[in-house]
Amino acid sequence: GDLPLILGIETSCDETGVGLVRGCELLSDEVASSVDQHARFGGVVPEVASRAHLEAMTPTVRRALDKAGVTLADVDAVAVTAGPGLAGALLVGVSAAKAYAMALGKPLYGVNHLVGHVAVDQLEHGPLPKPSIALLVSGGHTSLLLVRDLATGVQSLGDTVDDAAGEAYDKVARLLGLPYPGGPPIDRAAREGSAKAIRFPRGKWGDGTYDFSFSGLKTAVARWVEDSARDGRSLPVSDIAAGFQESVVDVLTRKAVDACLEHGVEHLVISGGVAANSRLRALAEERCADAGVTLRVPRPRLCTDNGAMIAALGAEVVAADLPPSTLRLATDTSLP
Ligand code: KG4
Ligand code: ZN
Repeated sequence: GDLPLILGIETSCDETGVGLVRGCELLSDEVASSVDQHARFGGVVPEVASRAHLEAMTPTVRRALDKAGVTLADVDAVAVTAGPGLAGALLVGVSAAKAYAMALGKPLYGVNHLVGHVAVDQLEHGPLPKPSIALLVSGGHTSLLLVRDLATGVQSLGDTVDDAAGEAYDKVARLLGLPYPGGPPIDRAAREGSAKAIRFPRGKWGDGTYDFSFSGLKTAVARWVEDSARDGRSLPVSDIAAGFQESVVDVLTRKAVDACLEHGVEHLVISGGVAANSRLRALAEERCADAGVTLRVPRPRLCTDNGAMIAALGAEVVAADLPPSTLRLATDTSLP
């Protein structure tokens, strides 16, 4: 018969995401974002996000069901982001998922948000080759994962030791007087500038790990801004944007491709909000081609936080016959 219908719920940060999926088939993907409420703070305010999730949850589930042309009674299992994320925000999604699972008498699965970012690629490009390496870059995370199996075998190879890549874009945009979120305006400004005009430091370059660091880069930009102001010079915004961006994507793509080569992996997935970056995509394509690695990047809409990614991972977990979570499911950040 039909593959099970999975309802996915995501509330780890500022997007209330609800998706419906069967296997690798995407039926609906509805997102309500509180990003506008955080803009004036230059970053996500946890309490504001939690409250927005609470208000958006029921209408977003309703819209996702309507778009997919199904009813709650058709749902076979409920998957929810258990972590990592903002504790209060996660709690809203986990509580809602428990309520739906209990009311429907259907199994509940708490899943890992990072692995969801990888699983979502299956909705666009079909089953993920095993093994794959995944580079996850967003406002909240910068992770390299070795994915042997989405449901049962994901290993973290490295992480940021300070800011996430998207967070670095957001902070640098603020320094340059560009709007929040900072990724898109820096991406645009960088196209007007020269990446060679200013050479910024490359955090943790060639240190033999798969970890990342962006705080030194941010400080270097801050120094440029201060020096220009002190000397009464106008700020070369486009050149700073281009130089900053080159430093970020140079390290990200180098370490991701190195991980593929070291582990003999031929497939790289790049996901998360920063995967929309034009220079990251271009350099990743170039370096993957040189290394004989196939690059998979989901469309931007699937790269940012959404419920379909959680449903996609839920489908894998159900297919792997893993035991469901109980109603005691707590927010949790462990990898499968
Ligand atoms: O995945 P996402 O929507 O939310 C989470 O943080 O989980 O990612 C948002 C991040 C923001 O930091 C934003 O500045 C960044 O992704 N971003 C970009 C671009 N578009 C969004 N960063 C660089 N270049 C872009 N084109
Ligand atoms: Zn995310």
